[in-house]
Amino acid sequence: KTLVIAIDGPSGSGKSSVSKEVARRLGLAFLDTGAMYRAVTWHCLNAKIDLKNAAAVEAAARTMRFEQNLTPDADFVKVNGINVTEPIRRPEISQNVSAVATNLGARKELVRRQQAIIAECNQRIVVEGRDITTVVAPNAEARLILTASEEARLRRRGRQLGGTQTAAQLAEQVLARDAKDSTVVDFQRAADGVFTVDSSELDFAQTVDAVINV
Ligand code: CDP
Repeated sequence: KTLVIAIDGPSGSGKSSVSKEVARRLGLAFLDTGAMYRAVTWHCLNAKIDLKNAAAVEAAARTMRFEQNLTPDADFVKVNGINVTEPIRRPEISQNVSAVATNLGARKELVRRQQAIIAECNQRIVVEGRDITTVVAPNAEARLILTASEEARLRRRGRQLGGTQTAAQLAEQVLARDAKDSTVVDFQRAADGVFTVDSSELDFAQTVDAVINV
């Protein structure tokens, strides 16, 4: 039986770790679509492709070879055979990823790849991102937005980065990026039929339960 769970939300909402645990518990595959936007960004920086050149960025998204492990416990991302799982999390990538996220041609290509991945795993998958409930999998069996207060999101992201960032750097990485992203995809407001789970006052286990119960 098919079971696609679509989860959208802003950065620091706990989306990735929660989605991964939901996939583990329900025995589903797991796709982090943000990792794909990050991987294109990494590839452009690595290959010295000008991120301001929209046509070049789109071409990169089309031609690069992507490999993603969909097992929630062993997820990795490879670009043209290079494992980029760690480097795509660096602040340099977070600071530049909006150039890919706001590139409509690149988005179209990534959405196409994501839908192919969903089909390949027989539609038994948790997919997380910004446009999953609306664009990538609008017919998913379960669709929800995971939100959290600004304060909770900054706190979580700060912890995730091991306290290496100043408050100003964190705000730039989390809030400014969400503001930029919102100009292309409205992931802050739930579309019709999409549930909202607010994790501000919930711990990890409670959030996972809330999502599973949707
Ligand atoms: O880790 P964090 O939640 O901050 O971001 P992410 O999920 O790794 O996504 C990185 C970036 O990719 C986001 O800031 C968006 O610009 C973009 N993105 C997107 O536009 N659409 C998606 N479905 C997923 C990510």
